[in-house]
Amino acid sequence: MVVRCSTAMKGLGGATVGKYPRPGSVCFPRAHATLKNQPPGVRCPVAVQFRTITVENNRHQKAIAIYPGSFDPLTSGHIDLIERAVRLFDNLILAVVHNPSKHALFSVSERMDMLREVAVAYPNVEVDSFQGLLVHYAAQKRASVLIRGIRAISDYEYELQMALMNRRLCPDLETVFLMAGEAYSFVSSRMVKEAFSLGGDVSGLVPPNTERRLREKLQQSQRSK
Ligand SMILES: Nc1ncnc2c1ncn2[C@@H]1O[C@H](COP(=O)(O)OP(=O)(O)OP(=O)(O)O)[C@@H](O)[C@H]1O
Ligand SMILES: [Mg+2]
Repeated sequence: MVVRCSTAMKGLGGATVGKYPRPGSVCFPRAHATLKNQPPGVRCPVAVQFRTITVENNRHQKAIAIYPGSFDPLTSGHIDLIERAVRLFDNLILAVVHNPSKHALFSVSERMDMLREVAVAYPNVEVDSFQGLLVHYAAQKRASVLIRGIRAISDYEYELQMALMNRRLCPDLETVFLMAGEAYSFVSSRMVKEAFSLGGDVSGLVPPNTERRLREKLQQSQRSK
């Protein structure tokens, strides 16, 4: 499909690389001139056209992403994902899933506190919690993207099912997967809790504050025995 670029894009800025406007740039009259030495209204290559429409449609909207998780507790793997996701979107919401039927070591507010300690470094990162359907929460927050992480094939199967179900429930909500950093591809909240409770050294796998909180939890549970 080839459709005409419109002069309405004028003044939005843009860039050309070689013959064509750079993918992702905005198509504007000067780009056309570079393209074919013709006035606005000439036919654009499909790829450029596609990007042009996208930019035009979203130009007043911020790209808001939600990174939902249990974060029970927050690990260095989560932080690695947060640091990478924050560069990709205008706003990032770190959302603790509140699932009353699942026993968690840390309360929702403790988990939010751990996330706030990371979020404080970024003006565009917010910490929140939610209960119920993620797609409803995303609509309420006007988010268009969900961030999830993939460590191994085992994550892929579950994450794919969840992404497809969310897409079925809300086709406009896109799931973006980030691959785990090499150093953290084996790090999970469950493994950290297990290793720590058996006396293992988890420094580096969780931020120092999480380690301190884990120690406090362990001491509490030993006292109550
Ligand atoms: N080390 C990591 N690297 C990349 N992604 C991760 C990492 N740890 C968790 N994630 C991703 O972050 C999202 C939220 O994960 P969650 O809070 O459930 O952590 P988890 O480590 O999987 O916890 P649990 O062990 O309790 O299942 C998921 O998409 C998960 O795949
Ligand atoms: Mg998990």
